[in-house]
Amino acid sequence: MTGVKIRACAHYVPSAVLDNHKISTWVDTTDEWIVKRTGVSERRISEGENTSDLCIQVAKQILEASGTAPEDIDMVLVATFTPDYGTPSVACLVQAEIGATNAFAFDLSAACSGFVYGVSVAQKFLLTKQYKNVLVIGADVLSKVTDWSDRGSSILFGDGAGGVLLSADEEGFFAERLRSRGDRVINGGFAEVVNPFSQRERGEYDFLKLDGQEVFNFAVKEASANISEILEQTGMTIDDIDFIVPHQANSRIIEGIAKKLKTSLEKFYVNIQRYGNTSAASIPIALSEMFKEGKLKQGSGKKVILVGFGGGLTWGSVLLSI
Ligand code: COA
Repeated sequence: MTGVKIRACAHYVPSAVLDNHKISTWVDTTDEWIVKRTGVSERRISEGENTSDLCIQVAKQILEASGTAPEDIDMVLVATFTPDYGTPSVACLVQAEIGATNAFAFDLSAACSGFVYGVSVAQKFLLTKQYKNVLVIGADVLSKVTDWSDRGSSILFGDGAGGVLLSADEEGFFAERLRSRGDRVINGGFAEVVNPFSQRERGEYDFLKLDGQEVFNFAVKEASANISEILEQTGMTIDDIDFIVPHQANSRIIEGIAKKLKTSLEKFYVNIQRYGNTSAASIPIALSEMFKEGKLKQGSGKKVILVGFGGGLTWGSVLLSI
């Protein structure tokens, strides 16, 4: 047994919609520029809900959809880099709220690759056969670390959460290729030490800072190479893959990956127009929509690659059968 079964999948986004027109009233940009250069038309922004609030909505939906009792959850893993607190973890807050009294819970920090890393970690726990039901949620409230006066980054991000309930699958297929390069960074939030000696005010290092073009080029190059590596590793070709669910960072990045892999964009699920870049949440939100739209069906055997890339730098793919 190496595979994992997605027993249920759900997502939750805040109800407040922030469209490009509104952003163009406070920074020098236009709806046309943002749509053309990023693919984003609007994003959801939290008006007070924190990361755990979004995750709890996802967890409750998953329990209901799968008919699972909270006591039967063995592990809760939340991938996020915008937690409510340093401690307790978001995962512990979720565990408490849903009554998963037999579960242990922890967070994982790998920015936009967090959900892919999380699925990989969950698979290892399931392999031991000691754990049967693992909840993996990717969630970020990026509006907390967005510099709303920076037109180069504020246009990109949105808030959201998505997740899956995973169990072991005797027949299921699973492969992965995870990577990091800590010497190439996107800085995001709380980068400086604040203590009584520093007397530092909230400043530029509290916000996400990125070199857009560098990240763009990294994403296209490394995500496509990563997918090629996982295909080579498994002896498959791109034609054996039914869907690629990429992190939603920029529609042109996704087009670039498709071009490098010499495959059709049709294979890629894209919903960035509605949510922007929601970091660790983007892949599970996409998966959840694919199930809702009937593109994916449990037990169909469809082969799907989830590919994440982002801060750290981190990147990686998992190839699994649905
Ligand atoms: N509106 C209008 N013009 C803008 C703008 C905005 N919101 N943001 C930048 N510009 C301008 C720049 O100032 C520049 O003007 P210049 O040519 O006069 O100097 C021009 O548009 C091109 O800027 P550039 O940064 O080269 O644009 P780009 O095509 O690389 O797009 C990003 C910028 C940020 C959209 C793109 O690089 C990107 O999506 N990068 C990766 C995203 C990312 O880092 N995600 C987080 C990790 S996954």
